[in-house]
Amino acid sequence: MPALAIDFGTSNTAAAVMAGGRPHVIPLEEGQETLPTAIFLDFDARRTLVGHAAVRALIDGREGRFMRALKSVLGTSLMREKRQFLNERLTLIEIVGRFLARVKSESEAHCGMTFDRALSGRPVHFHPNPARDAQALADLSDCYAAAGFAGVEYLPEPEAAALASGGGDGLGLIVDIGGGTSDFTVFRRTGTKTDVMASHGIRLGGTNFDRTLSLAHVMPLFGKGTNLKAEMGPNTTEAPVSIFHDLATWATIPFLYNGATKRDVARMTKLAVEPEKFARLVEVLDMELGHDVAFAVERGKIAANGTEAQGVIDLREVEKGLSAMITKADLGAGLTSSADQIRAAAAETLAAASVDAAQIERIVFVGGSSLLGVVSDTMQDMLPKATPVFGAAFTGIVDGLAIAAQ
Ligand SMILES: Nc1ncnc2c1ncn2[C@@H]1O[C@H](COP(=O)(O)OP(=O)(O)OP(=O)(O)O)[C@@H](O)[C@H]1O
Ligand SMILES: [Mg+2]
Repeated sequence: MPALAIDFGTSNTAAAVMAGGRPHVIPLEEGQETLPTAIFLDFDARRTLVGHAAVRALIDGREGRFMRALKSVLGTSLMREKRQFLNERLTLIEIVGRFLARVKSESEAHCGMTFDRALSGRPVHFHPNPARDAQALADLSDCYAAAGFAGVEYLPEPEAAALASGGGDGLGLIVDIGGGTSDFTVFRRTGTKTDVMASHGIRLGGTNFDRTLSLAHVMPLFGKGTNLKAEMGPNTTEAPVSIFHDLATWATIPFLYNGATKRDVARMTKLAVEPEKFARLVEVLDMELGHDVAFAVERGKIAANGTEAQGVIDLREVEKGLSAMITKADLGAGLTSSADQIRAAAAETLAAASVDAAQIERIVFVGGSSLLGVVSDTMQDMLPKATPVFGAAFTGIVDGLAIAAQ
C-alpha cells in the first residue's frame, strides 16, 4: 500500500494519492484542495476543530484557543512543554498530532483505505542551525506518530515540486515561497526523468512578510515606538518592543494570553505618554484578538499585491472605525530586504548546482507567496532568460509527493 502524501505547510496543508496514474488531491474539507494549518481547541464543545472550521470558530469568537503556523515552532522547546487548555494538559506535539490525525482520517474516509505510512514534505532547512533543524524533524516525526502513522518518510518540498512540474527537457529552478520558508531546487528534466542537482532553503515566508507589515503599519497603533514615562522623574523611554514582535508573529500569538503579559501591559498603559494606543493593546489581549489582527494584515497584504492601488487592514474588531493602509509602494519597500534574501538563497542554490543563471530555462513558481509581485519580479530580474511558469501554487508540492510515494 502506498504512503499517504502530505504537504504539511506553515499556512496550508494538502494530502494526495495517485489515481489513474496521476496525482489526486484529496478534499480534506468539502470542495477544498487545501486545509488551513489551523487548530481550535473548543472549550465549550470540548473538541478540536481544524482548518476552515477552526478559523470560523475564531471569527465567531467562540471560547477556546486558536493556533496557526505551528510548523514554525518545530525544533524549539515550546513543542514539548505541557500546557493547560481548560481540562487538558497537552504539548504542541500532541496538538499537531491531532491535526495530522484529521488529515489521516479524512484521507482514509475519502479513499476507502487505511494509510499506515506518510510521505511528508519538509523544508530544505527548518532552521539554519543544524541541531535545531534535526530537532524540528524529530518533533515532526513525533507528531506523525501521535497522529497514528506507523512510519513517515520525508522529501524536501522543492524536490517534490520538481517531480510534478512537467515541461520539456532542460534545466529548471523551483522557487517555492510559502508561509514559513523559501525553498529552491535546480533540476534537469530529460524525458520523464527529473534529476535534482541542488536544493537550498531559508527560514523566510509569508508569515514573516505579515510580521514585517504588522510591525510597520499596525503595531504603532497599539503603542509600538511610543514612549513610557519613568516610574519616577521626568525621563521617558521607548516602550519595549518584544510584545509587539510576538503579537505580530502568527506562531507566538497564543503564548501572549496569560496573566504575566497582561500585567506588563497594564503597567505600561499607566506610564504611557499615549495611553489611548495601549488601551487598544489591552483590548487585543483581553478579547484575544491577536489572530484576528494577523488575518487582517494578511488580507491587507494580498489586497495591496492585487489590482487595487492599496490594501486595507481592517481593525474594527479592535476599535470601531480603526484601520491602516498598505500601498503597493509600502509593500515593495517593506519587503526589499526579504527579496534580497530570496535572491541570495537562489544564487546559492545555482552555485551549489554549478549552474550559471543564463543556463536556467524555466523558473517554476510554487507556494502562495510566489504570487507576490515583488518575489516573482526579483526572480525574473535575476534570471531574465528563463521562462516563468506559474504552476499549481498550492498543490504543486503534494502532487510531487504523491508521485514519489508511488
Ligand atoms: N495572492 C497572494 N498574494 C500574496 N501572498 C499570498 C497570496 N495568497 C496566499 N499568499 C500567502 O502565501 C502564504 C501561504 O502559502 P503556502 O500555502 O504555499 O504556504 P505553506 O505551504 O503553508 O508554507 P511553507 O511551505 O512555508 O511551510 C501565506 O503567507 C499567504 O499569506
Ligand atoms: Mg509549502
